[in-house]
Amino acid sequence: MMKVNNNIKDFLDNNEPYCLITGNSLIELKNIPSETVNCVITSPPYWLLREYDALDENGNQTEILGDEKNYQDYVNKLVEIFDEIKRVLKKDGSVWLNLGDKYHNKELMGMPWRVALAMMDKGWILRNDIIWDQMKGTQSAKDRLRDVYEHIFHFVKSKKYYYAHDEIRIQPIRKPKMYNGEMVSATGVSGKKYRKQIIESTVLTEEERKNALNALDEVLNDLAEGKAVDFRMTIRGEQRTFHSDKTTVSGRAKELELKGYYILRMGANGHLPSDIWRIAPEDVWRKDAHYAVFPEELLINPIKATCPENGIVLDPFSGTGSSVATALKLNRRGIGIDLSEKYNEIAKNRIYEFIEIPRQSSLF
Ligand SMILES: C[S@@+](CC[C@H](N)C(=O)[O-])C[C@H]1O[C@@H](n2cnc3c(N)ncnc32)[C@H](O)[C@@H]1O
Repeated sequence: MMKVNNNIKDFLDNNEPYCLITGNSLIELKNIPSETVNCVITSPPYWLLREYDALDENGNQTEILGDEKNYQDYVNKLVEIFDEIKRVLKKDGSVWLNLGDKYHNKELMGMPWRVALAMMDKGWILRNDIIWDQMKGTQSAKDRLRDVYEHIFHFVKSKKYYYAHDEIRIQPIRKPKMYNGEMVSATGVSGKKYRKQIIESTVLTEEERKNALNALDEVLNDLAEGKAVDFRMTIRGEQRTFHSDKTTVSGRAKELELKGYYILRMGANGHLPSDIWRIAPEDVWRKDAHYAVFPEELLINPIKATCPENGIVLDPFSGTGSSVATALKLNRRGIGIDLSEKYNEIAKNRIYEFIEIPRQSSLF
C-alpha cells in the first residue's frame, strides 16, 4: 500500500497539491487553521442509509456519521461539523452540500431541508438549492412515485463572496440570424411585435415612445453585431414584469414605471446554468469500492465558480477522493478527510496517475 500524505501542516507549509487525512472530520478539522479553505464540496453519509467501511489504520471500528438512533442527533452532529467548517472557510468562501432524502416509517423525512434550516439558524447564508436530477432510480414501493433527485445546497458565510460567474457560463447553442430580411434572435424574436406595440401605445408619452424605439433598435443592432444573442422587452400597458409588479421589490418594475419599458438582454458570452442539474450518477468506482461517488461533472462548476486557481477545495467526507481529484485537474489544491483508510487508499491511487507520475518524471 502506498503511504497516504496525511499531514495538514506539511501540505500548507510546503504548498503541496493535496492532502488526504484518515480520521473523524469533526476532530481532524480542528487541525486546519482558520480561514484556510476557499471552497467545500461534500456529500456526508445520509441518515441510516448505508454501511461504509469505517475501519481506521489500526483496523478498529470508528465513529461513522449517519448511524444515529434519531434524526435530531444526525442533524445536530452535521451542524456541529459545519460550525467547524465555517471556521476553516475563508470569509469569501463557499460550501456545496449534497444531501438526499430518506423514508422512515413510511414517511419522507425532509432531511436535506432539516439540515439546511438548522445551518441557516447557525448563521449560514443559503444562496441556491440545486436539484440534482439523477435521471434514473430504482424503486420497489408501488404507492408513490420514483425518487430521482437529491439536493445540493450552496451556502456562504458572508454576503460578499468569491463567485467567478464568467467561468461557468453556458454558450448559446443557437445564434441570431437574418430571416426574411430581418434580424431574428436565438429564440426567434424579431422585435416587430414590440415596435408595433410601442408605436400604437396609448399610455407611453412621446418622449418614452422615442426612447423605447431607440432602445429596441440598439438591441437589434447588438444582435446583428454579435454582441447579444437574445432579448425580451416589457412595455408599459402591454406585458407584465417578469418577477414582481411592486416597485419596492423589483428593480425592473421600477424601471418600467420610470421609463415606460425595459429590456432583458442576453449577452453573447452565454448565460448562467440553472438550479436543476441533470447528471447521471457515477458508476465506474461504485461496483467494488464505494457507494455514492460524485460524478466529476457535478464538481466542475462549483469548483470553477467558487475556488480561484491554486485555491483550496476541502471535502470532509471525501470517500474515493472525487472532489480532491477534480480540484487537482482544475489546477486547484485539495484536502480530503475520510474515516476510512481503505477509501483514502483508493483516492490516492486515483490521484497518483495524474499527479505523482508527472512529478516523479520531472525529476529526470
Ligand atoms: C457519501 S460518501 C462520500 C463519497 C464521495 N463523495 C466520493 O465521491 O467518493 C460519505 C463518506 O463519509 C465517510 N464518513 C462517515 N462518517 C465520517 C466521519 N465522521 N468523518 C469522516 N468521514 C466520515 C464514509 O467513510 C464515506 O466514505
